[in-house]
Amino acid sequence: MRLARNRLLRAAIVAAIASLAADLVQCQMGRVPLLFTPALAATPAPAAAPPQGDPVLGQQLYQSCMGCHSLDENDVGPRHRGVVGRRAGSVPGYSYSPALKASGIVWTPVMLDRWLQGPQKLVPGAKMYFTVANPKSRADIIAYLAKQH
Ligand code: HEC
Repeated sequence: MRLARNRLLRAAIVAAIASLAADLVQCQMGRVPLLFTPALAATPAPAAAPPQGDPVLGQQLYQSCMGCHSLDENDVGPRHRGVVGRRAGSVPGYSYSPALKASGIVWTPVMLDRWLQGPQKLVPGAKMYFTVANPKSRADIIAYLAKQH
């Protein structure tokens, strides 16, 4: 008798846990569309989209690139005019690393953001040794470059 009741109780507990788990799953699933509501999309989502860049600030920050780059002359690094939208490793007359030339990358803002976080991480064997740690600074520089057609 006592044993039977214990079994019933256990069955009830198992059922309760199962239904709780189902609720939790539903709840989690219910949350997913929330991530895409416009209100939340407007707030910076970590790692999803880079912050909005300011090209005026970007022009100032671009000075840190000018040790090696300029807009119109190949130098230590390739010239930058028109880089946003350009295929990596495609400036004539500049001697790229074989790795960057073969990378197949097109310089979208997202790829530039990854490049500036760590060129060798993005393209092992690349020969640019410079990173920009601050996400907002990267966005500013990329916004500036996007305007240099
Ligand atoms: C210390 C020198 C140095 C600095 C500073 C530097 N770069 Fe470079 N950069 C290079 C070199 C060298 C390459 C060529 C890489 C290769 O061939 O692997 C390069 C390549 C690039 C490319 C690829 C261009 C192409 O035509 O495919 C981009 C984009 C770039 N740099 C952006 C920047 C930006 C933006 C900054 C400033 C935040 C910067 N770099 C600072 C040396 C530098």
